[in-house]
Amino acid sequence: MQWHNKFHLEMPKGLVNDPNGLCYHQGKYQIFFQWNPFGCEHKHKHWTYTQTTDFINYTKPQIALAPVDKFDKDGCYSGSARSKNNKLEIIYTANLKDEQNIRYPRQVLVKQDDDGEFIKEKIIIDTVPEGYTTHFRDPYIFAKNNRSFIILGAQRENLTGCALIYEEIDENWIFRGELKTQLTDFGYMWECPNLFTIDDKDILVFCPQGLKAQKYQYQNLYQAGYLIGQFNPDTLEFTHGEFHEFDMGFDFYAPQVLVHENRHILIGWVGMPDKLQDYPTINDGWVHSLTLPRELILKNDKLYQRPISELNKLNQNTTTKINTDKISLFANKKLEISIPLKDISSWQGKLKFNDEYILLTYDKNTSVFTIDRNQLKLGGKGIRQFLVKAQDELNLSVYIDNSIIELYLQDGEYYATFCYYPTNDNPVFDLIQNTNNCTTLTDLNSIS
Ligand code: FRU
Repeated sequence: MQWHNKFHLEMPKGLVNDPNGLCYHQGKYQIFFQWNPFGCEHKHKHWTYTQTTDFINYTKPQIALAPVDKFDKDGCYSGSARSKNNKLEIIYTANLKDEQNIRYPRQVLVKQDDDGEFIKEKIIIDTVPEGYTTHFRDPYIFAKNNRSFIILGAQRENLTGCALIYEEIDENWIFRGELKTQLTDFGYMWECPNLFTIDDKDILVFCPQGLKAQKYQYQNLYQAGYLIGQFNPDTLEFTHGEFHEFDMGFDFYAPQVLVHENRHILIGWVGMPDKLQDYPTINDGWVHSLTLPRELILKNDKLYQRPISELNKLNQNTTTKINTDKISLFANKKLEISIPLKDISSWQGKLKFNDEYILLTYDKNTSVFTIDRNQLKLGGKGIRQFLVKAQDELNLSVYIDNSIIELYLQDGEYYATFCYYPTNDNPVFDLIQNTNNCTTLTDLNSIS
């Protein structure tokens, strides 16, 4: 049990994946997520949910949807929720496969009744529109110009990924067409799209599968990122800039964004499909977690991400070590390190425990930041490299949980989430740097 995390949402057993149905309803944030209660396999997907008012105290997770109907027997797949006329509504993908493994995805409307039960009301989209394959799922409800839409992940018949738009008219969901982006050949499937507006920009979030790895991009098996632009709900045109990845770590996928009163809170899945062998907790009967909730801020045509300010309530003791190159600590800490770049050509920080370590490096000349997990004994290994533009200072904030590290740089311009599995209980970490820096350590409490 030493790897169970303290301030990341997860379940004592089974497999957790995508956050679903994030919304604010009746004074509480509603957080649903995919869960297989029966084992650590991508099967039997239920929707489980918890509620919170402060992101510190959560209600005991309960099952909201189980794959017990004919139309969803192969999983209550991802979807979203909204609070409409003070009632909670969910739209999710009912997954059904026949003996030949052919999929029959249907989009189902669920309403919560007065006793809090989730009632599968009706199938609102029964078939896949012409021109697309049965990879058609993950409806996300959004509003634009006082009109209601859903956006779904899809695959064209030529096996390229895209997103499709439906509009709600008189309680019916009408197919409007494909979202017209400039990315006509960008992966073979787009999972988990989200569309929302920050300031006057529309943001399309999605998870393209099948992008070829490049030197400093797309290094995971599947990606999660966003486009910033303008969505025209009449023509379905989405004019946009370049695709940015949200997170440069090893273990991040399928984020969903909760919109409430001008706040945009992203929660992702700490995991990666088709990589179960990288997560040794499967031997203990549980696997995966959700990320810390992160506030999205639109700045310089990018989305900055920072753990939401509510999480400051987890802070306990804070110590600042001035000009030091070695610090010993336990997990459940936040570290903030400021590295002046004026007189150095590179920075190195080794997070060492027992006889294993994670190596973080920054090369000022090439601007390459590297996360190296090759010296870990258990779990996924490898390196991730990405470009970080830093002028005078490199600023690093690191949340260290029992088996998850979330690291963000330059005030949230760059973010990286990854797992690690120390081989003995309660290891002492030594943070060893090649330069003397000012480092602040904060003890973090558990969520409850
Ligand atoms: C993404 C995903 C979704 C699907 C869900 C099933 O991780 O594959 O496309 O709805 O997981 O659990």
